Amino acid sequence: MTKGSEKKLNKRSMLLLFLKGSKRYFAGSILSAGIVAAMDMIIPQIIRIVVDYCLEGGPGSLARPIQDALARMGGPSFVRSHLWLAAVMILAVAGIGAVFRYLNTYWNIKGTEGMVKTARDCLYEHIESLPFSWHQQNKTGDIIQRCTSDMQTVREFVSEQLIQVIRIVLLIVFSMACMASLSMNLSMIVFFSVPIIIAYSYLFYRKIGYMFLQCDENEGVLSTVTQENLTGIRVVRAFGREAYERERFRKQNHLYTDTWMKLCRILAVYWGTGDFITEGQTLLIVVFGAILCVRGNLTPGEFIAFISYNRQMIWPVRRLGRMLSDMSKAGVSMDRLLYILNSEPERWKGTARPEMKGDITFRHVSFSYTEGEEVLKDISFTMKSGSTVGILGTTGSGKSTLTYLMTGLYPLTQGEILYDGIPLQDISLPWLREHIGIVLQEPFLFSRTLAENIAIASEADATAIRQAADTAALDESVMSFSRGYDTLVGERGVTLSGGQKQRAAIARMLVQKTPIMVFDDSLSAVDARTDEKIRRALKEVEKDATVLMISHRISTLMDADQILVMDQGRIIQRGTHAELMAVPGLYRHIYEIQKPEGGEAV
Ligand SMILES: Nc1ncnc2c1ncn2[C@@H]1O[C@H](COP(=O)(O)OP(=O)(O)OP(=O)(O)O)[C@@H](O)[C@H]1O
Ligand SMILES: [Mg+2]
Repeated sequence: MTKGSEKKLNKRSMLLLFLKGSKRYFAGSILSAGIVAAMDMIIPQIIRIVVDYCLEGGPGSLARPIQDALARMGGPSFVRSHLWLAAVMILAVAGIGAVFRYLNTYWNIKGTEGMVKTARDCLYEHIESLPFSWHQQNKTGDIIQRCTSDMQTVREFVSEQLIQVIRIVLLIVFSMACMASLSMNLSMIVFFSVPIIIAYSYLFYRKIGYMFLQCDENEGVLSTVTQENLTGIRVVRAFGREAYERERFRKQNHLYTDTWMKLCRILAVYWGTGDFITEGQTLLIVVFGAILCVRGNLTPGEFIAFISYNRQMIWPVRRLGRMLSDMSKAGVSMDRLLYILNSEPERWKGTARPEMKGDITFRHVSFSYTEGEEVLKDISFTMKSGSTVGILGTTGSGKSTLTYLMTGLYPLTQGEILYDGIPLQDISLPWLREHIGIVLQEPFLFSRTLAENIAIASEADATAIRQAADTAALDESVMSFSRGYDTLVGERGVTLSGGQKQRAAIARMLVQKTPIMVFDDSLSAVDARTDEKIRRALKEVEKDATVLMISHRISTLMDADQILVMDQGRIIQRGTHAELMAVPGLYRHIYEIQKPEGGEAV
């Protein structure tokens, strides 16, 4: 968990964490559930008294104090002449029951929503604190699924399985106690049948649990297919894949519907047999109750009350089995949430906040994402403060990895990176990132305005935003938009061209005014002239900055003070443009390829 606590959470401690601030609502909800259950017990008793006093001389097994009180008031004749009083009492009890039913639901919802909010806050805060490597290893869709679907299962577990189960258990216990007080013999039928009904529905739902899971999975695949098609609609159209994708969707849709239909058929059989069992149980009670009545062991009022208790209990009893079987689902979901919450947050020991002049040294740095597969091998180089270093390299040679290491996105495992002589891991991470501006290879823009996107990491005002955009050769394009810097960037910035997106990312980095700047292939989507324009503007505006410029284009790098050529994780050549051109090697080879007929490289 975040906030430095080292202890791993388990299911119980996670629930307690989520329930922080909501426990009192759940306590209120349980209390009112108890009152509702108690109220539910009273009405059959009133009916029973009325029936027995009207049809006979009085109830046989009524509590002594109530019998005495009724006798004092006038006994059967009083009850018969004051039937309205029974009606008022029923109304009052029903009214009180309704108020507490409302409170039960209200507090349950309030508690549940509060819990879900706390859970969302905890999850989000923790996810934000997790290292970059964790985010790279875990699919976004899966993380979102855990935070929504699994969270929903936990929500149901608390609001349904915990609170409602308590309510139902109270109802069953109270009802059984009332029934036992009316007739122990008849209660035997209930005592035997209720566990059977609970076990039947419990076992049934356990058995078909995998079908619900299958439905969920098929639904998941269907939404992934839909989402991918909507997200990649341009690719689908451009490659004329509409028919193929439609067919893929149709098949998945068919499979999903099929699984549901199969499940519904089984459910229908279950509900049919369930009804049969419960109605059979009622039948037994009616038959044996009638016999007891005829024999004089049970009064008609008691018989009616007994049936009422049984009826009001039987439906919740049937639900109980399902709720209990659903509890195992919650266990799986809780484990999935625990996976997130127990993942180690980004740990960084460094606290130093040195003056960052921009001297950077890499000493024998090697790195592998997966054991045994080194992507950086013994990298050593020095960047002098205020200088520009260019990196040219084949794809997959480790250029981006290098930038991840120097910004602490991945922990350094071998070798040293020094900033003005201070090891990277001794420097405070926020401090480090405050001083290194980076334009990532795949820039990401939020669905906000352009101005907000540019000023996302700083407090830049409108003038600073425009200045940065101007340096990044973006201002002109923005001014041609009717809403200028207030233009909303669509989902993933699709309203901007690739080059505009890259330039917005450059502007975002420039407004930070950091002494160290890293451009990871950040000019790849702009034409050679704009590339040159941006570099010239950069040189003027950021004279003192230390710049690391990664590119596949030689013209972007040729003015650098030092150029490193990388291949398969190693630096295979280094020097200025002139020095590298003077010797045969990869650099000169690439130059030859990029050079237009009879001209300079572009
Ligand atoms: N998160 C990751 N997990 C495992 N391997 C990775 C990861 N990111 C990159 N790699 C691998 O590391 C190697 C170097 O990748 P890197 O992105 O640093 O290359 P690059 O030089 O920036 O390439 P490009 O020029 O295409 O941007 C590649 O072989 C790549 O497959
Ligand atoms: Mg890269």
